[in-house]
This record gives sequence, C-alpha cells and structure tokens, in this order.
Amino acid sequence: MVLASPPTPLFKGDLGGARLCYKRDMQLPITNYQLPITNYQERQMTQYTAASINTNSPVHNSSSFLEIENLFKSYKSADGSEFSVLEKINLNIGENEFISVIGHSGCGKSTLLKIVAGLEKQSSGMVRLEGKEIRQPGADRMMVFQHYGLLPWLTVRENIRLAVDEVLQSLSRADKISLVNEHLAMVNLTSAADKYPDQISGGMKQRVGIARALAIRPKMLLMDEPFGALDALTRGKLQKQVLDIWENHRQAAMMITHDVDEAIYMSDRIVLMTNGPAATIGEILSVPFSHPRDRQQLRESKEYYELRNYALNFLDRYFTQDE
Ligand SMILES: Nc1ncnc2c1ncn2[C@@H]1O[C@H](COP(=O)(O)OP(=O)(O)OP(=O)(O)O)[C@@H](O)[C@H]1O
Ligand SMILES: [Mg+2]
Repeated sequence: MVLASPPTPLFKGDLGGARLCYKRDMQLPITNYQLPITNYQERQMTQYTAASINTNSPVHNSSSFLEIENLFKSYKSADGSEFSVLEKINLNIGENEFISVIGHSGCGKSTLLKIVAGLEKQSSGMVRLEGKEIRQPGADRMMVFQHYGLLPWLTVRENIRLAVDEVLQSLSRADKISLVNEHLAMVNLTSAADKYPDQISGGMKQRVGIARALAIRPKMLLMDEPFGALDALTRGKLQKQVLDIWENHRQAAMMITHDVDEAIYMSDRIVLMTNGPAATIGEILSVPFSHPRDRQQLRESKEYYELRNYALNFLDRYFTQDE
C-alpha cells in the first residue's frame, strides 16, 4: 500500500531519505466473526430506469470481490471507556463496481475506508479482498486522500515515480518512465511534470495524487473525499476525468463523499450511512444509469432527481434526528 497522504507514521525517514513505505508482515489477531446480518435495506431503484439513458450495459456486478462482514469498530475515549463508531457493516463490492459512501460528518466513513485499506484494524468482523482477509495495507488497494499528500521536495513526476519504484520494482527503467508519462498525460499534467507541489494549484495536486494511485495499477481504488477541497468548476472537471479513466480501466472503487450529485454521477451504488455513534448502513441505492455517463444527459432525466431527492431526504432525516 503506498500512501498518498498521512497518516505520517507510515512514512519512513526524514526529508532527505524520502521513501514511501507500507507495513509488511504485520501480524494481527484473526478475529471471530458471526454470520453476516443484513441490517440494511438494499433498494433497487427500478423506477429510475431512464428511457433517455443507455441502460444496455450495466457495469456493476455484485460478485464478492471485496466482502465486509459484520464489521464492528470501537475506539477508546479519553476517559478510557470504549465508544462504538461502526457496527454491523455488511457490504459486498464487485470487481468492476464503483461504490460511493455518504453519511454525516463523524459517522465513521473514513474509519471504514481505512479498515478496507488495512490502515486501521476493526474491533471485530471480517474484511476480505478476493477471499483473502485484509490485515495490512497492500499495493492492491490504493488510497487517495482529500489533502493530496504529495511529498513537497519531489516534483510532480518524481512523486508518481516514487510510488511506481516502490510497488512495481520488477519493471524495467524504460517501462517505469513510460508508465509515469502515460499517467501524467492521463490527468493532463505533462506540462507540469517538473514542477514542485507548491508551484501547482489544488486541482493539479489532486490530479497528481490520482495519477499516482492509478499508476501502480491497484485492483481497488479507495478515495476519501477526493474532490472535497476543490472549487466547484475544478471539482466538476476532475470528477469527469476520474470517471473517464475509471470507465476505460474498470476496477473496484470505493469513494467517500458528501456530495449526492457526485455520488450519482460517478457510482453504481450509493451506500447511505446512519449517524454515529454506532453508525451502520441505512440503505444502499442502485444507480440505474449505465456507463459511460454524460452529466448533462443525467440531469435531464426525471429519474436523476428522484434518486437525488431520495438520498437527500434520507440524509435530512438523519440530520433532523440528531438535532
Ligand atoms: N484514531 C482515533 N481514535 C479515536 N477516535 C477516532 C479515531 N479516528 C476517528 N475517531 C472517531 O471516530 C468517529 C468517526 O470518525 P471518521 O473520521 O471515520 O468520521 P467521518 O465519517 O469520516 O467524518 P467526516 O465526514 O467529518 O470526515 C469520530 O467520532 C472520530 O472522532
Ligand atoms: Mg472522513
């Protein structure tokens, strides 16, 4: 697992000895888990099938590429007592499926993503990737964090190259160079390749983080509010760019977002979380629009607004309960 951002303790060395690292051979206890309990209602929004949208090639498959079973996570409070953040999380993600997770602040979305990344350990329950228990970070899952996480003493090109060097060690030098160039071009950063992070804009930094994540060819892309820090115009462009890339490469993706429009535009299913503490999956909505998607076309459909309102009402309901 190459980190695109803090937590900093996983970075080794000082500024001069910059190396990305991932924990190897970290032995964690195998926890007992119970049989999965379906604690949410999976809602197939069949009424949203839009005549105006091409629905011939649904991309999402429900096979169990990533399996989350009866996940429970608690942390210790300052006074020593345990508080439950997540409970009874059950979710399967297909190998070509794009999932968004939405929920109010503090409900445990980042915690869930970090557990899938192997950066955080669940208190009980099981997470498997291709049938293998996730116990630590790995290059098969690549994380894109909200706040870029670029190494400031390296150029754009070097930031991507470092990840490639770390993970794809068996590639020849020429192949590494062409892989980096390919991914720079993919996110339109070829002309900024030799600039340092403090010489480029926020949107460009985020594109470096995304290119770096994609360059190591992970089986699963994990994104924690990847567009959250960007202005609306840049956010829209970058959403389209990431979706275009994903549509061409088709891998499993799990994205945390606060933005319902972003979730509908990009994902195949939307996981709606209840509020914390002890947050769980409230509902899972299927997005009935096939890929490739055209945002304009989606917005012209009645189904888009019905789905959007449904998700917003769910979030409002939980927000109101909190007040
Ligand atoms: N390492 C930690 N130690 C103790 N408590 C933690 C730790 N990490 C997260 N928490 C707590 O767990 C809860 C969930 O945090 P998390 O960051 O997962 O929420 P989130 O849904 O991602 O919120 P946001 O939308 O604001 O990013 C919060 O109450 C948070 O304070
Ligand atoms: Mg978060």
